[in-house]
Amino acid sequence: RSRVLSGIQPSAGSFHLGNYLGAVRQWVALQESHDAFYTVVDMHAITVPQDPDTLRANTRLSAAQLLAAGIDPERSALFVQSHVREHAELAWIMNCLTGFGEASRMTQFKDKAAKQGAEGTTVGLFTYPVLQVADILLYQAHQVPVGEDQRQHVELTRDLAERFNARYGETFVVPEAYILKETAKIYDLQEPSAKMSKSAASPKGLVNLMDEPKATARKIKSAVTDTETEIRFDRENKPGVSNLLGIYSNLTGVTVQALEEKYAGKGYGALKTDLAEVVVDFVTPFRDRTLEYLDDPATLDKILASGAEKAREVAAPTLAAAYDKVGFLRPL
Ligand code: TYM
Repeated sequence: RSRVLSGIQPSAGSFHLGNYLGAVRQWVALQESHDAFYTVVDMHAITVPQDPDTLRANTRLSAAQLLAAGIDPERSALFVQSHVREHAELAWIMNCLTGFGEASRMTQFKDKAAKQGAEGTTVGLFTYPVLQVADILLYQAHQVPVGEDQRQHVELTRDLAERFNARYGETFVVPEAYILKETAKIYDLQEPSAKMSKSAASPKGLVNLMDEPKATARKIKSAVTDTETEIRFDRENKPGVSNLLGIYSNLTGVTVQALEEKYAGKGYGALKTDLAEVVVDFVTPFRDRTLEYLDDPATLDKILASGAEKAREVAAPTLAAAYDKVGFLRPL
């Protein structure tokens, strides 16, 4: 069986609809056919300031949401990144193979550094993508299910795997990004040319899965559209309506074309009212299941411990092989 690995940051607490449609839903599907490794990346989270107690709570909350979304801990290794120390260790080796210029070209780094300012930008933020490379290579993952915004990091992973293999001999699987066209990028409801993101300018454009379903319905109903009346998918000229159609289609399985036919001659209000119901029908049970998992932290922690154990079984021999290849003396 081929392997998949992916990760999600716990920093925002609640996942948003972009996380779910762009990534987590694929994680759930892929665990049927692949050996799957899914991790809550708390080490990535601290590349920007975090309150320790909040980080701990959000790490559990993230794991609970992954279980609620359908990650099956019997089938997948669901673990917390900091529980598997091999990630930090392989990241060091990868840091030593990464060009300074190469890392400087990472667009997510440039965006985040601009937000943090010169003094707030840490070296950790700069090498963030290299830690992600280690996450992926440790598990010899063939596929990495992510949204479009992570493509460049997976490309870097491929480059570093090839570089290591060329320099030291065949060691790492060269992975591929697994990005579905329909959900590669979910857009902000208020600013439909920008991706939906936890760092959005206004919270009104962001659909948090853990928000009160009523608040979410209101956000959908006040989504930005355009001054026309026609319900038609046209990313270029009608980004708002296209985003709503995309979300609708992806949550229900009804094609965009069928939706265009269904809403022919109807107004944006009808589309938004129906979509609000679709989204509420999705988030309500999701949220309830998440809260149930959170209610029993002991069980949650056990699931994470067993996930970390499964992860270590794969990560440890990969790291040992890399240590040998680079010429580290084996300790007695
Ligand atoms: P993160 O935590 O920002 O996002 C988790 C996943 O959600 C996807 N995503 C989106 N997809 C579609 N539309 C959107 N608007 C949208 N917003 C977010 C992301 O692409 C991602 O797949 N660096 C990663 C975490 C990470 C990782 C890894 C991923 C760490 N190690 C190893 C894969 C493999 C991140 O910050 O994702």
